[in-house]
Amino acid sequence: MKPTLLITGGAGYLGQHLVAQATGWHVHATYLHTPPPVFSGTFHHCDLTNYTHLAHLLARVRPDVIIHTACSNQTPANIEAIVPAARHLASLASQQAIRLIHLSTDMVFDGTNPPYSEDSPRTPLTPYGYAKARAEEIIQELCPQAVLVRSSLIYGISPLDHQTRWLVGHLDRGEPVTLFTDEIRCPIWVDNLVSALLELATLPYTGILHITGPQALSRWEFALGMLALVNRQSSRSLFVASTIAQAGLTRPRNLTLTVHKAQALLRTPLLSFTEVVQHLQPTEASRLHSRPF
Ligand SMILES: NC(=O)c1ccc[n+]([C@@H]2O[C@H](COP(=O)([O-])OP(=O)(O)OC[C@H]3O[C@@H](n4cnc5c(N)ncnc54)[C@H](OP(=O)(O)O)[C@@H]3O)[C@@H](O)[C@H]2O)c1
Repeated sequence: MKPTLLITGGAGYLGQHLVAQATGWHVHATYLHTPPPVFSGTFHHCDLTNYTHLAHLLARVRPDVIIHTACSNQTPANIEAIVPAARHLASLASQQAIRLIHLSTDMVFDGTNPPYSEDSPRTPLTPYGYAKARAEEIIQELCPQAVLVRSSLIYGISPLDHQTRWLVGHLDRGEPVTLFTDEIRCPIWVDNLVSALLELATLPYTGILHITGPQALSRWEFALGMLALVNRQSSRSLFVASTIAQAGLTRPRNLTLTVHKAQALLRTPLLSFTEVVQHLQPTEASRLHSRPF
């Protein structure tokens, strides 16, 4: 019999890819406002900030593993839910000996002292970074056997990821887009992250694990690469190069994470952006881009 996997945020970007690809599992998923896409698996409406709802759901589903993707930085309400959702999940997972894999972010660091390892102290700068850092602390305290996966920009073309959709939306409207040449991230292809998470779900590993692409890119370089991938090079004239300081913002500059631990632990290879681009030829990429979200 297949083990049972509960994916929180199953209608979100990462969540929907996990639901679709977790074929080795009996899949259940949660959603809040976004209606679930028509995929395999059973969806449950659940507000993770409501302890009682979550407790009832876990009693019904009885998962072996929870992959907690819900509560991102897409809206203020999402950010507000990060800490209570983490507290409730950690508490219940610990009581019921459920393996908990929590999605965290490179934004728990301030970007001044890269590269960051799993042992680097948390130094968040933004409200999202603070909330994710606090959630990590709470989970470590309440459920020390949990896994905290720190990732970076998650990208994909079928459907387009959040950042690229935002970018393409601006370009479609003929609006210029400012991109930082000094903000460094390690983007990861959504399918690659999904494979790594599903493998991790079967392993006994506990603690913090960095799972990002192994290639550091500036926001400028990454956007140009995504533009080429979706055949929109002609819109390049709308891109405006800037630095974080020129834009008058306070943001983490270099969020390069070390991924040696994940590379040693997982059979799933972590793919660089260059490798993914070679895999996704532009013609195929453009065809997939036209699919609805
Ligand atoms: N995307 C990235 O580039 C990136 C980078 C690093 C780390 N991460 C982390 O990876 C995870 C997945 O990111 P994502 O971009 O796939 O997120 P996403 O698309 O924004 O999905 C997040 C989901 O969380 C759900 N949610 C929000 N508040 C909730 C609540 N109180 N109860 C139940 N569900 C709630 C939302 O449901 P509704 O839509 O129904 O409201 C949404 O579907 C997040 O934890 C994020 O912090 C993402």
